[in-house]
Amino acid sequence: MNTKITLSEEISTKIIMVDKDANDDLSRHYLDFDIVVVDNFMSHEEIMILQDSQISNSKNSDIGKEHKMAEIIDNPSKLFRNKLAGGVLRDLKHRLSQFSLDKYESFSENIVLQYFNGELLSSEPDRANISFRPVIKHEDMHLDRYLLEPLRMFVNLDDQPRVWRTSYNQLEGMALMAKQRYFGTPKDLDIAKQTSKRGKYKDGLNGKINSQVLYDYQKKKNKSPYHELEFAPGAMWIMNSKRVSHQVVKGNRLATFSRFYPILQVTQEYLPQA
Ligand SMILES: [Fe+2]
Repeated sequence: MNTKITLSEEISTKIIMVDKDANDDLSRHYLDFDIVVVDNFMSHEEIMILQDSQISNSKNSDIGKEHKMAEIIDNPSKLFRNKLAGGVLRDLKHRLSQFSLDKYESFSENIVLQYFNGELLSSEPDRANISFRPVIKHEDMHLDRYLLEPLRMFVNLDDQPRVWRTSYNQLEGMALMAKQRYFGTPKDLDIAKQTSKRGKYKDGLNGKINSQVLYDYQKKKNKSPYHELEFAPGAMWIMNSKRVSHQVVKGNRLATFSRFYPILQVTQEYLPQA
């Protein structure tokens, strides 16, 4: 099954389809404003094994939570009845990690080595999680507000498409705010500012873009046009969630892999020259 894409002419974000087995180096997309999609990252058989699990259960609070992949690999019966599920997840975790090294090789040569040697300041360990829960209502359209500059890979583990939208990217959002003569204070422009749950998505530069350009929090609807992507079962997509806006609309089962390269070290000098 292939990912279906409905493009808006008003949005410049490109969707780059990549063959799983092709030898492409994806490093140049890492700090970019595009979305890389790899269909069939997981096989149909693997996806079917992972369907043998619940996605909601009012009597079991473990169902519906986000889980560390490593914990479920050690104890698959927490979520799955099918005994093969743990092995499928173990293999997925390995393949995600390997993909992040193989396909980001020219980027990897310098910074990845430093990352694994612990030479970079305040680097966080990779996070590989799974989230098996139904998306009941759509998310706000938003840009993430991580402190660091994560490489984020997502895999649709459900047998139905995961529906997802993307609107203006960070650069377009800034340009639109400038046009509307919206000038932030230095505090507003602190992109890394963490915020309390109450003000989620609304503080910092990305928070301002979220509320000024992307989403009407009162009316609970999008303020801007969007592309819509229906990620096929087993598809992977990779994007910089601080630069590429996103809104989950539908989906049940998801894997996420995040590597948090510290932002200060990730500058042009580490990226491959065109
Ligand atoms: Fe997000």
